Amino acid sequence: MPRLSRLRHEQAFHDEQARRRALDLADRSLVFADDDYLDHETWIRPAFARLGDVRGRRILDLGCGHGMAAIVLARRGARVTALDLSTGYLHEARARARANGVDIGWVAADGERLPFADATFDGIWGNAVLHHLDLDLAGRELRRVLRPGGVAVFCEPWGENPLLGWARRALPYAGKQRTPDEMPLDQGGLAVLRHSLPTLTLEGHQLLGMIGRVLGPRPWLARVDGWLLRQAPWLQRWCRYVVLTERV
Ligand SMILES: C[S@@+](CC[C@H](N)C(=O)[O-])C[C@H]1O[C@@H](n2cnc3c(N)ncnc32)[C@H](O)[C@@H]1O
Repeated sequence: MPRLSRLRHEQAFHDEQARRRALDLADRSLVFADDDYLDHETWIRPAFARLGDVRGRRILDLGCGHGMAAIVLARRGARVTALDLSTGYLHEARARARANGVDIGWVAADGERLPFADATFDGIWGNAVLHHLDLDLAGRELRRVLRPGGVAVFCEPWGENPLLGWARRALPYAGKQRTPDEMPLDQGGLAVLRHSLPTLTLEGHQLLGMIGRVLGPRPWLARVDGWLLRQAPWLQRWCRYVVLTERV
């Protein structure tokens, strides 16, 4: 699909998702505790730890969506810029930041054309966003805006498990709505990203734990996964999600 049509589809899809969320959120408090975000998926807390001490650092939340990561980062003392293509999601994220009393810079822009000077950020965070982007364009831009000594951490659905690929296509489960052009990241995509981010490391999450996506969370599965993946790191290739880290 041509780039501009893809961006228009992405924006319309996420704006519509945000519109439906706004109806659900209308009479609910937007105040939340850091743990609510850090523990909502098993990879978030360990991935966040990879950013290190963010106090006083300039951090970009790429594809910030609902803004919860940006707010947790701001509460930890980071100077946060949160960027998204969807003005609908930015509206929700801004309201959530107000409710939680933090100050964040909001930017409506395309992650493939970042409106920032070179070496602007000490750190970049992105959860479930790279697989929506052109990885070559996004990789170049992310490297450009990351300053020497900086770190970038991304959490992405991983697409190298054929059984999981079938389940993603065939099984109905909650929260499955996707844009037509998003694809889980795979070895090919990783190779493209490594053109610009050459030391990108990969850590797999949810091997057996992915069953929780259908049956509901089973915390003990995360412990079993941790043990299995330490014993046999090659099993990462069949995980549901990966955490990617680049240190420059
Ligand atoms: C699956 S959501 C993830 C949101 C958030 N990071 C989270 O953890 O829930 C993907 C987000 O990427 C945004 N997005 C998609 N394409 C984008 C682009 N080209 N530039 C910036 N943001 C984009 C969407 O609007 C959406 O908010």
